[in-house]
Amino acid sequence: MDTIKTVKVVVVGESGAGKTALLTSFLENSFETDPLTTIGIDFKHKIVQLNDGQSIRLQLWDTAGQERFRQLTPAYIRSAKVALLVIDLSDDNCVENLVRWKGIIDKNKSDFTATIIVGNKCDLVNEKRSPRLINIIKETKDEYIETSAKTRKNIKELFSMVACRPFPEHKTSQIVLCMF
Ligand code: GTP
Repeated sequence: MDTIKTVKVVVVGESGAGKTALLTSFLENSFETDPLTTIGIDFKHKIVQLNDGQSIRLQLWDTAGQERFRQLTPAYIRSAKVALLVIDLSDDNCVENLVRWKGIIDKNKSDFTATIIVGNKCDLVNEKRSPRLINIIKETKDEYIETSAKTRKNIKELFSMVACRPFPEHKTSQIVLCMF
C-alpha cells in the first residue's frame, strides 16, 4: 500500500451554515439539531482509504463563522490545500454570504489552495436555485456540491472530492473506508 498522504482542509462560511454539522455527519454519522456554536477553531482528523488503495489523512480545521473570531481564519486558509466554503441554501442571504466568503478565501489563500463550494441544508429547499446563485457559482469556476448534514446526502461524495482534489492521480477515486 502507498504511504499516507495528508490534506489540510479549512472549513469556512457564515455562522449557522452547517460547517460543524457537515464534519460531524462525516466523522461520527450523527446530526445534532442544537449544537454549540464553534469558538475560535476546532481541529479534527480522519484517515480514509480510497478505492484505488491510497490512504489519505484529512486534517480538518473547523472555523467559527461569528464575526468576533474572524481574524483567526486567514492563517488557516493560507496553509490549506482545500478550502470548503459552506453556504446555507435555505438562507435568503446565501448569495451575499457566498460572495463575502469567496472574497475572504481569495484574499488569503495560497497558490495551492483549491476551493470547493458546498451548498448545505439541501433537505430544506426544493431543487430550484436562483439564477443569481447559479451564475455566481459558475463565475467562480470552483467545484460545487449540494449536501445535507441531516440526511447525509452527498457527505461521502463531498469528502471524496476533498481527499482527492490535491492529487490528479486520484481524481476519480472514492472513499471506501474511514479508519480512525
Ligand atoms: P458556527 O459554529 O457558528 O460557525 O456555525 P456552523 O456553520 O458550524 O453551523 P452548525 O453546524 O452549528 O449548524 C447550525 C444549525 O444548522 C444547527 O441547528 C444544525 O442542526 C443545522 N444544520 C446544519 N446542517 C444542516 C442540514 O444539512 N440540514 C438541516 N436541516 N439543518 C442543518
